[in-house]
Amino acid sequence: MTSGGDAPGMNAAIRSVVRTCAYYSIACAGIYRGYEGLIEGDFIELTARSVNNIINKGGTILKSARSKEFRTKEGRQKAYEHLRKNKIDAMVVIGGDGSFTGAVVFNEEFNFPVIGIPGTIDNDIFGTSHTLGYDTALNTAVEAIDKIRDTASSHNRLFFVEVMGRDAGFIALNAGVGAGAEEILIPEEDLGLDRMLESLKKSRRAGKSSSIVVVAEGDKSGKNVYELAEYVEENLPEYEVRVSVLGHMQRGGSPSCFDRVLASRLGVKSVELLLDGQTNLMVGLKNNEVISTSIAEAIKGGHTINMELLRVSDIMTT
Ligand code: F6P
Repeated sequence: MTSGGDAPGMNAAIRSVVRTCAYYSIACAGIYRGYEGLIEGDFIELTARSVNNIINKGGTILKSARSKEFRTKEGRQKAYEHLRKNKIDAMVVIGGDGSFTGAVVFNEEFNFPVIGIPGTIDNDIFGTSHTLGYDTALNTAVEAIDKIRDTASSHNRLFFVEVMGRDAGFIALNAGVGAGAEEILIPEEDLGLDRMLESLKKSRRAGKSSSIVVVAEGDKSGKNVYELAEYVEENLPEYEVRVSVLGHMQRGGSPSCFDRVLASRLGVKSVELLLDGQTNLMVGLKNNEVISTSIAEAIKGGHTINMELLRVSDIMTT
């Protein structure tokens, strides 16, 4: 199943799980709409040929959802009954930490074997350097910011560009550095509004005529991106400010080659772990090796952001 916010590379992971099952002569079913479909018994048999020509497709052919009912004992009981009735004896969940929390509870209650594949553009999962979809989303964000820079520079404007990341600043920080932003605001560190004003003043003094500030959705400035724009216009009237919210376009599109390869590797590993009798693990990437971590640890561990990048960004704005 795919669960939670969709991410580019989820289809490539479905394909990998299905083809690995076919390789080992294991019957495989897809569960539609994550835990919602599990509760309703909305399954489809998947063969190696069912997943032709999806490695390059964004979104998820199995669809995705965030299920409220799975948070209830009754919902999980229904889900378990459908799995038993359909003779399903193990599950691969492709999703983020919310989806993994559901998997851990389900395993505790019914002792049902589960392996997690990290799929979220936010990259906020412990136990892997990259989650599926993060690389693609990052490239989408950088491409969009490059385009905004063209118009910002033509009109000598300052743009606040909001990128996704409700709780994590991976996209903001890396897209910000990659697109040469003047300032980057992330949830992990409140740099304060004074610092932002100071840095914008510095930019002007240094002769820059246009600027980009990348803001993560969940940044800690206490102002949303439109309020930030107003705040700068009030305090630095020399700036003409515009806002651009990139939004869900960051979740769509054809996965990058990196995400396709990662998905293929993680899918193979997930099925092989189950065949080996292992459960409650999340597969991930560390130093370019496929590794596994207990799902509980993956949820609790958090994923620390590379603060050195903020320093690099500072130096680059000189
Ligand atoms: O997939 C994670 C994420 O992209 C977050 O960064 C964002 O806040 C959230 O999903 C929004 O998701 P939705 O619109 O599906 O609730």
